[in-house]
Amino acid sequence: MKKKLVVLTGAGMSAESGLRTFRDSDGLWEEHDVMEVASIEGWHRNPKLVIEFYNQRRRQLATVSPNRGHVVLAELERDFDVQIVTQNVDDLHERAGSTNIVHLHGELTKIRSVDGATVIDIGYGDLTPEQTDDRGVPLRPHIVWFGEAVPLIEMADRLVREADIFAVIGTSLVVYPAAGLVNSMRPGTPAFLIDPGEVGMRLPSNFTVIREGAGSGVEKMRDRLSAYVVR
Ligand code: APR
Repeated sequence: MKKKLVVLTGAGMSAESGLRTFRDSDGLWEEHDVMEVASIEGWHRNPKLVIEFYNQRRRQLATVSPNRGHVVLAELERDFDVQIVTQNVDDLHERAGSTNIVHLHGELTKIRSVDGATVIDIGYGDLTPEQTDDRGVPLRPHIVWFGEAVPLIEMADRLVREADIFAVIGTSLVVYPAAGLVNSMRPGTPAFLIDPGEVGMRLPSNFTVIREGAGSGVEKMRDRLSAYVVR
């Protein structure tokens, strides 16, 4: 049986595709204060601005492509049971061909009713403030904002506990509960960190650190993973 490779990704995974990371931009997300456009308070304060912000993010997403890192992770499915747990709301893992993806912080290409009952694919299209679902309930971006629960964290935690190999790519590990997943892996599990910068957490000693960008870093990890391929 193939070994289970669980990969936690963050904004750095998509940096080489041209999507900016959060913490390299002084807490700004595309010129906006993160709390203005990515918190439940920000939504209640100015839903029109938040809707327009995510409309722009969707239009931008339509113009970018998966990078080498996304592609190699998808290719690893040939030799491993790969499970991606991503904090990213983009769809670049999907477009690269990965098939098992948990989006901890939601998905740009979906919208949902404010009561959570309806989830709708919107692709790269725009949401308007007046739009409702067929029950008349207003719609909002399908994003987990600061101040909201992370419904998929328990599933992600279970996946990391089951991992034979664990990898962390392009996340500063400062936002919880996602960062806490590092503590869920079984002691002694082979683990890799791919990030050109410093991360906000002292990592357990079983981590092999690859201080590179996602593209070259994932290729290096693939070379080292050949030792774990079951034939
Ligand atoms: N390849 C890999 N990693 C990179 C690259 C690259 N080319 N460039 C930068 N990085 C690394 C940075 O060194 C940093 O450690 O990516 C990380 C990005 O960290 P953040 O910007 O904090 O992004 P992330 O950890 O995904 O943020 C978590 O915070 O704003 C919220 O909900 C949002 O999901 C997001 C969460």
